[in-house]
Amino acid sequence: MKPDMLADGVYRVAAKVGNRDLFEGIWPIPDGVMLNSYVIKGTEKRVLIDLVKDWDGALSAVNSQLEDLEVGEENLDYIVINHMEPDHTGAMAQIIKHYPNVEILCSAKAVPLIKHFYKIEDNVRAVSDGETLDLGGKTLQFFMTPNIHWPETMMSYLVEDKILFSCDGFGSFGAYDHCFDDELTKEETEKLASETERYYANIVSSFSSFVLRGIAKFDNVEVKMVAPSHGVVWRKEPEKIINWYKTLATYAQGPREKEVAVVWSSMYGNTQALLSSVVEGLESEGVVVHVLQVPQTHESFVLEKVWRSEGLVIGMPTYEYKMFPPMYHVLDILERSHVQGRKTMRFGSFGWSGGAQKQFDEFSTSMKLDCRGNVEYQGSPTEEDKKKAYELAKALAKAVKES
Ligand code: FEO
Repeated sequence: MKPDMLADGVYRVAAKVGNRDLFEGIWPIPDGVMLNSYVIKGTEKRVLIDLVKDWDGALSAVNSQLEDLEVGEENLDYIVINHMEPDHTGAMAQIIKHYPNVEILCSAKAVPLIKHFYKIEDNVRAVSDGETLDLGGKTLQFFMTPNIHWPETMMSYLVEDKILFSCDGFGSFGAYDHCFDDELTKEETEKLASETERYYANIVSSFSSFVLRGIAKFDNVEVKMVAPSHGVVWRKEPEKIINWYKTLATYAQGPREKEVAVVWSSMYGNTQALLSSVVEGLESEGVVVHVLQVPQTHESFVLEKVWRSEGLVIGMPTYEYKMFPPMYHVLDILERSHVQGRKTMRFGSFGWSGGAQKQFDEFSTSMKLDCRGNVEYQGSPTEEDKKKAYELAKALAKAVKES
């Protein structure tokens, strides 16, 4: 890849990471992910914003583009660390070896993290909220935006060009051949849509109140370009990604989309035997229904659909007196991601003894789910069970529509 110019003296230095690994060791990235760093050349000083980890060729890609930009040992003055997670800092020790005099600028909370992760203490300086850095003709300003994504996170704003370097904030999964939103093909635009929502649900959803607080911080700041460290640079429609993130963050407390996620699993087909009655009941009210089988569907994709949906249906059998284990795992992920308050029902079969419902009720309480009822049966469902499931699902969909 070659550096992309955002404005005079401002460049993206990017690496496309492929789909071989899981992001954070958990989340599939079938379309890869971008690691974006940025270079700013003022007349006096030069800055590199955010780094990479040595992942799928990212380090050599970034080093080679820094060479293209003639950023060498004697002319890089600062490295700005907006966020300490190792996807953006993993190669810090290798990179600063090339720049022995560089000063690392970060939030106060990042200082001990740099020490503990990389054993680096020299030339590290904490900046404060609102502080500015004069580069000569260009001014960088720092905004503390805690918990987008870790507590130490900040964003950097280039005052003259009105570019916001937002690191994880406003990011997306997916690796793209083009740098800017207005350059994407139709196919890339479609990929960006689903991969932004999945990225948000997987990585950022737990911190939605901080996202809204962070966005509010820029209410009176003109942003002409949003330059995240994952995904594309929003040049044509910076307000689109900002408003999109606002909507995604709002799903935490609602309102949400008038859609229902049906997350189901079955051992021998007896829980599955009720699925069509549930789906027909939901669809009779005309709501959008997402049907997601577990464990066949990775929790990453389940979370994406559950996050946006006002309705949630859990179909799951009892397994050895408790919940079916793959569904336990999914509900654990949903709970950690702060999925709360959904209008919910549950259905499922048991063999010689129940138990799933009791354990599900505990999740339901801790996740503050608005449970509308359940249909649980021994062995296979009766016609009466199917009718009850249809009616319960229909009532749920109606409540979702009216929410
Ligand atoms: Fe892209 Fe939270 O790291």
